[in-house]
Amino acid sequence: MQAFGLNHPDGPFIAANVPDLHPHAGQFTVAPLAVGLNNRDRIERMTAPDGRFTIPGHDVAGRVIDPGTTDFTPGQLVLAHTDHAYAEQVLATPDTALALPPGLALAKAAAVITPGITAWRIVHRFATIQPGQTVIVKGANGGVGALVVQLATALGADVIGIASARHQEAVVADGALRAVPYDNADLVTVLANAGDVVINVAMDGIGFTEDAVMTRPGGQLVTVAHVAGRAEDKKIQVTHVHPANTPSDAVALAALAPAVADGSLRLHVADPLPFTLAGLQRGHELLGQPHDGRLVLVKDH
Ligand SMILES: NC(=O)c1ccc[n+]([C@@H]2O[C@H](COP(=O)([O-])OP(=O)(O)OC[C@H]3O[C@@H](n4cnc5c(N)ncnc54)[C@H](OP(=O)(O)O)[C@@H]3O)[C@@H](O)[C@H]2O)c1
Repeated sequence: MQAFGLNHPDGPFIAANVPDLHPHAGQFTVAPLAVGLNNRDRIERMTAPDGRFTIPGHDVAGRVIDPGTTDFTPGQLVLAHTDHAYAEQVLATPDTALALPPGLALAKAAAVITPGITAWRIVHRFATIQPGQTVIVKGANGGVGALVVQLATALGADVIGIASARHQEAVVADGALRAVPYDNADLVTVLANAGDVVINVAMDGIGFTEDAVMTRPGGQLVTVAHVAGRAEDKKIQVTHVHPANTPSDAVALAALAPAVADGSLRLHVADPLPFTLAGLQRGHELLGQPHDGRLVLVKDH
């Protein structure tokens, strides 16, 4: 099969022929038709080992090739949270996959996978959100953040979203009571002690010190930054958002994908790029810059 990958840190991406995949027990193979791009892909690109062909990518919507011993069927359309996605075949397992819900476009299906699973775990596992609590979401217009805003709002939280000035309206449209611009306001002054729960899903979890200021004493701070423990002066519980197996990806996707299909969960997706070498290269250029909407590669089919 053909795959897109790289032999050196930061590329360039090249096409290569690699061995076909065959499912082991509990696995099945999928032909990707759409692939979602994430910051993790960018990191994989930048840290690719010298001299070993690396195929990044994790978020796939595609067609089952060989169901192996699973209950999936050949030709069935699925979402799969997997590895080495930039290829003609990927391996998946039932606990990380979901049959494509009716009415869900492949681009949206690929776009919801990592952001959706992450947002769902943040709201339902890492954070403890009670109705009526004030939840501050930093990075509120990002892939993960826009979903966190909507899921926390659905739990009855009063959400304040932090995003750039140009994204204030979008954050309110997603359900936030108000939006605050990080590039046009002093967050530490405007939001000091305002959050029962502060969720930082901004790029790289930037700004831990201001997150702690925004969290009320005894509150909770959940962040994608690599910090954990307690901020003792304010008795804040700090939780790092880390990859987790429970609840499974399949459970989170089953809760989210039908809602994206029926429009009750809004997902911002950029115009799809072609699932070609040139499309992949362009997608990774955009990944490293401010961009609007999830980046997705879609195969001509
Ligand atoms: N640990 C995990 O399991 C896990 C899983 C998924 C993602 N992540 C991490 O979570 C982060 C967000 O991922 P994503 O896919 O949602 O990225 P994304 O779609 O690119 O969104 C990132 C957001 O960060 C915001 N931002 C940038 N600088 C900021 C600042 N100084 N203050 C406040 N917000 C700022 C941007 O806001 P504007 O667009 O309004 O400028 C943008 O919307 C990344 O670091 C990613 O690696 C972790």
